[in-house]
Amino acid sequence: MLLLIDHADIRTIKELYEEFPYDGVTTNPSILKEVGGNPLQVLREIRDFLPQGAQLHAQLIARDKTAMLKEAQHIWDALGADTYVKVPVTREGLQAIAAMRAKGISHITATAIYTSLQAFLAAKAGARYTAPYVNRIDNLGANGVQTAKDIHTMFCQYGLKADVLAASFKNSQQVLELLKAGIGAVTAAPDTLRQLVQCDAAACAIDVFTRDFYALAGEGKTMADC
Ligand code: E4P
Repeated sequence: MLLLIDHADIRTIKELYEEFPYDGVTTNPSILKEVGGNPLQVLREIRDFLPQGAQLHAQLIARDKTAMLKEAQHIWDALGADTYVKVPVTREGLQAIAAMRAKGISHITATAIYTSLQAFLAAKAGARYTAPYVNRIDNLGANGVQTAKDIHTMFCQYGLKADVLAASFKNSQQVLELLKAGIGAVTAAPDTLRQLVQCDAAACAIDVFTRDFYALAGEGKTMADC
């Protein structure tokens, strides 16, 4: 299971990588707008920082198949290996996914997924990942976690070579539910990722252990001093 950072600010990405060995970064146009500057330049800087093999997901903007294909090739050429082109799942997007696969662009993430049917069609057209927007689906009065689970089940049932890359989370419970279901990847904003890594109960228990050891062996001592 891959754990990705849904963010584009390079300083925050670097900080998060100091806390945990993540599997890459996902972005969308709104995330890039928050950072400002030349979007491709921002993505290049992220690419240069990421370890070899880490994924970078960048979304295309064009709305018709021919322009999408051209833009996908540009993103792929500019950002290199382990870059995934995010394609919104519209009628044109599905055509573009199939055309990209035919042209040899295999790293495709189908995005803007609100229904399991969208995900199924995108995977059948050739997408490697499909990104259901869990929290946004919840906000429509539907069930985002269940939608992502249904997509995963369909992929397994039909033997499709695609994974769920669940996105748009509000809390760690939503993430945990999907991890238990065995989905392929999760991307979340820095706050949610920090909630996953942080465990206040463990921190309290460790404080007590440390205090007890200092009482036993002396302030500031560790086993290496004994
Ligand atoms: C992922 O593909 C989406 O771009 C993103 O995760 C949406 O997240 P949000 O609903 O928190 O904006």
